[in-house]
Amino acid sequence: MHLTAEEEAILNGEEGETKQQLMEILVGVGKVFGADEMVPVRSAQVSGASYKTIGEWGLKWLTSLDAHAAVPAVLNPVGMDRIRWEEMGIDPGFAKKQLEVISAYERLGIRLECTCTPYYLNITEYGDHLAWSESSAVSYANSVIGARTNREGGPSALAAAIIGKTPKYGLHLVENRKPGIHIQVDGEPKGADASWYGALGYLAGKISGNRIPLFSGIRPGRDQLKNLGAAMAATGAVALYHVQGITPEARVFSFSSEGLENIVIEADEVASLFTGEQVDAVAIGCPHCSPDELITLATLLDGCTVTKPVYIFAARDVIERENEHIRKIERSGARVYADTCMVVSPALERYDRIMVNSGKALSYVPTMCGAGAVIGSTKDCIRAACTPDV
Ligand code: F3S
Repeated sequence: MHLTAEEEAILNGEEGETKQQLMEILVGVGKVFGADEMVPVRSAQVSGASYKTIGEWGLKWLTSLDAHAAVPAVLNPVGMDRIRWEEMGIDPGFAKKQLEVISAYERLGIRLECTCTPYYLNITEYGDHLAWSESSAVSYANSVIGARTNREGGPSALAAAIIGKTPKYGLHLVENRKPGIHIQVDGEPKGADASWYGALGYLAGKISGNRIPLFSGIRPGRDQLKNLGAAMAATGAVALYHVQGITPEARVFSFSSEGLENIVIEADEVASLFTGEQVDAVAIGCPHCSPDELITLATLLDGCTVTKPVYIFAARDVIERENEHIRKIERSGARVYADTCMVVSPALERYDRIMVNSGKALSYVPTMCGAGAVIGSTKDCIRAACTPDV
């Protein structure tokens, strides 16, 4: 792997122990994956931020580091809302540790935006090289924005944030971004909401595995694409997909389905995932809600009172921009939390069955929260929790 003189100097410890250690991580990853060189990144998104997942060892490692981020960098969701954690019913002992993890990242120059939707913070554009780590964010950046990132682990994303570079391999190279399977969707319902695409992604991820799918027969908007990609990254290992005529690289490169394995998914198969079972809580915002999704929720909840807990998750920056809609949502009794989500927070572990509008949450809630999960449209979710019915 070719290193510049500046990169060699960092590797030799000329810029301190922390940078040396982090450069060793990047060079190690680059060698394993056959990278020829490093590439500068425009931004980083660092996972391993929830105390629930990194524990005491991770906290100790973070506090031992001494450096500052070289590029804009944000965190993945953590185990609680940094401000409203008590209201979420978070144990004070857990909260103390979580706040220590957050402070450790802050000291390293990582912005205290804890979100899986960093693309709403305007830190990336088409063609940018990135070092992002949360699987749905990676999928969105690659597929919907046309930026280039591998799915980084927590340490390698942090290393890229501090060094400002990442090894150039995998999805950083155009030749690795071509589709490997064609998924033809029959019967896309008119006006289907994002949950339908989440359910489609839930099925498509299992079929695709680690191949890059090329979809035809669907016309999703941005929120639908977000849900589709998130679910495929959860049930498969899909970090990039294309939709004919919709996603940027499918327009630029005119990928053909010729020669690819062709799989058909019928709308009935997608519909069969919507079982309408009773639930004892509702969780929305996986991935974190967009401004448009918050506006839809404010409209649906207008004039309603929730009779079951309704948790809604979004990035703090988005919540602050949509203040008026948040007030309307919370007047119903639903709660909008920042910095965390239904999967990484222990707050939802107390429920038996949760309704979600996301294919990714449908896949993760049972394993990460120990609760049953049922998928419904956003309207179904609100209907399941409210009086009067909407
Ligand atoms: Fe985001 Fe949590 Fe879902 S990190 S994609 S809301 S599991």
